[in-house]
Amino acid sequence: MKNFFALMVSFLLTNSATWAADDMPAKAAMCVGCHGVNGNSSMPGVPSLAAQNARYIYLQLRDYQEGRRDNPMMSPMAAGLTRPEMQELANYFSTQKLSSKGFKADPDKAKLGLAKANETLCAMCHLGEFKGQNEIPKVAGQNFDYVVNTLKAFKAKTRSNDAGNMTSVAGTLSDDDIDNLAHYIAGLN
Ligand code: HEC
Ligand code: HEC
Repeated sequence: MKNFFALMVSFLLTNSATWAADDMPAKAAMCVGCHGVNGNSSMPGVPSLAAQNARYIYLQLRDYQEGRRDNPMMSPMAAGLTRPEMQELANYFSTQKLSSKGFKADPDKAKLGLAKANETLCAMCHLGEFKGQNEIPKVAGQNFDYVVNTLKAFKAKTRSNDAGNMTSVAGTLSDDDIDNLAHYIAGLN
């Protein structure tokens, strides 16, 4: 009997360590269903949150809640969060490690993407290799499909919560530029 309890305890400890780190906020459990364990998404259209800037995550959650950014999957998720919960979730995901998704960039496209990034001065805001800073997101290693979708959304102004920074930049990009940039960006990290 004693052994059975010892076994149960070790089973529970092992599993809770896999499912939820001690510092994981309660509400993060519903996020990881889409954004992946520790915020490492394996769904193409869902961005990873791991290692994203806390300030950026917090502001995006506020934008979804207040309708400045809109998505049928994500908006309902932000609707019920309090500000302290948003901050707690932002802190949690920003301190997780972004794992490599094994994305294989097309080397020719990635080269053209890097040239376009230099020409367009993306690094002026996003810093070198798209590391990001404060409210400017890290994009290095982000999911390829998500990068393409969101650049197209800025270009079409269906995403416009960016104070004009990205909608004006994206307006200058062709679909080929977007494809090349996404190969370069998703292949970083
Ligand atoms: C049903 C799936 C789903 C769930 C659950 C979900 N999300 Fe999302 N989330 C998405 C999708 C899809 C997007 C991208 C939407 C878009 O293009 O605007 C997104 C985008 C985001 C973004 C913007 C990221 C960026 O790089 O701009 C943040 C921040 C975010 N989610 C946080 C959360 C948090 C925190 C939770 C838990 C409270 C959560 N999400 C739960 C699907 C989900
Ligand atoms: C003038 C500053 C500025 C420049 C230049 C700029 N960006 Fe951005 N970028 C931003 C800001 C600010 C955001 C966040 C907008 C928001 O809050 O929705 C952003 C968001 C993004 C996102 C969305 C990330 C996410 O997780 O949703 C992508 C992708 C991106 N930028 C790529 C680029 C690329 C590629 C270039 C160059 C072609 C570029 N940016 C140039 C300021 C800039």
